[in-house]
Amino acid sequence: MSHANIPTPRNFKPGAPLTGRITVPGDKSISHRSLMFGALAVGRTTAKDLLEGEDVMATAAAMRAMGARIVREDDGTWTIDGVGVGGLLQPETALDMGNSGTSTRLLLGVVASHGITATFTGDASLSKRPMGRVIEPLSLMGADFTSSPGGRLPLTMRGAHPAVPIEYRLPVASAQVKSAVLLAGLNTPGVTRVIEPVATRDHTERMLTGFGADLTVEEVNGERIIDIRGEAELRPQDIVVPGDPSSAAFFVVAALLVPGSDLVVANVGLNPTRAALFDVLRAMGGSIEEVDRRDVGGEPVADLRVRHSELSGIEVDPAVAPAMIDEFPVLFVAAALAKGRTVTTGLDELRVKESDRLSAMAEALTLAGASVEEREDGLVIEGTGGEPLAGTSGEPVTTHLDHRIAMSMAVAGLASRSGVEVDDTSPIATSFPTFEALLAQASGA
Ligand code: S3P
Repeated sequence: MSHANIPTPRNFKPGAPLTGRITVPGDKSISHRSLMFGALAVGRTTAKDLLEGEDVMATAAAMRAMGARIVREDDGTWTIDGVGVGGLLQPETALDMGNSGTSTRLLLGVVASHGITATFTGDASLSKRPMGRVIEPLSLMGADFTSSPGGRLPLTMRGAHPAVPIEYRLPVASAQVKSAVLLAGLNTPGVTRVIEPVATRDHTERMLTGFGADLTVEEVNGERIIDIRGEAELRPQDIVVPGDPSSAAFFVVAALLVPGSDLVVANVGLNPTRAALFDVLRAMGGSIEEVDRRDVGGEPVADLRVRHSELSGIEVDPAVAPAMIDEFPVLFVAAALAKGRTVTTGLDELRVKESDRLSAMAEALTLAGASVEEREDGLVIEGTGGEPLAGTSGEPVTTHLDHRIAMSMAVAGLASRSGVEVDDTSPIATSFPTFEALLAQASGA
């Protein structure tokens, strides 16, 4: 995708307090699923407040290439005319997944139980990420793969029809792997079962139930057992996508760190499998108040009023990691300005995200003047006690094609003396195209 080609550097300078009210765009996970499930339903699904970032657009293009009609109407609503489970067509060209691991892993699941062949390609970051974690269960279901060395993209998959139902215990806490198996199960006769020893985001389960799939979730001895019965027929839905807590996170941390800030971040999804960052920040002393808690599209949502706060370091319980897995980069920034030491453990999964987020953040924060020790499975950060970071001088921090590294270091720049130079802001468009405009709106930065 375009961001891979045109690096756009920027120096994020300390600015005015963050004030007023901003609204974050739609949730990325729910937006991907809205397009995929709508494309698999019989009839017309609509989606309001869909995230129009590059990752979600990669999903839209792939579903179109496999036969769905997907249109953005003039009022911003998206309409999706589905082909029905089992009705996907063989794409004529390779499916370009850009930077998006979610598109890739979930679509591999979808295609696995269709009798079609598809080639998946991606950018340099995505091409380094492990796909073996989905290749393994989907092969057990009958799909066949020719992948690049190490189970990576580009890869070609021949789906199996009929596929074979499996019972699969997740070896890694990954909503993407869980979803891939469940989505393959949609078009597989019989019951496909996923056992989740550690709960991960549950949007797939919630939304497939809304679309009328025969899906049950049971908790036994602390594990989640999810059964889906195929072959399913999905009913179209009218979806309102709640705001993305992972995008809100950058503004919440920025407002906590910049003195004088008092900001309302509106429309933040607070699904309990996603919202642990806000609890951790509160435990560090952050003033984050929920206003007008309500339900949007079957998900809990609230406006968050965030005021500048003195934060204290914390030992983050690794058990909460899955519920804030994308938020660690920006938590590390908060920790860098807290009083005392923050210790994080159990974060091996961060090494296989859009970048190795442990080493990328350790390197970037150190360059910006923070005191960081990188360990195998987490970072240990000695905070400044509220003093701004020195900032970078001359050498920019490296984002490694990772939107969340770019946005986290932008927040670090707001809380620095001289600013933080980021080598490339273009990856931000994958998940949060309005980030810089909202930053300008809230702080004039
Ligand atoms: C996602 C799951 C998470 C997350 C990603 C989106 C999803 O990945 O990091 O941004 O929508 O299912 P893993 O399942 O690999 O942890």
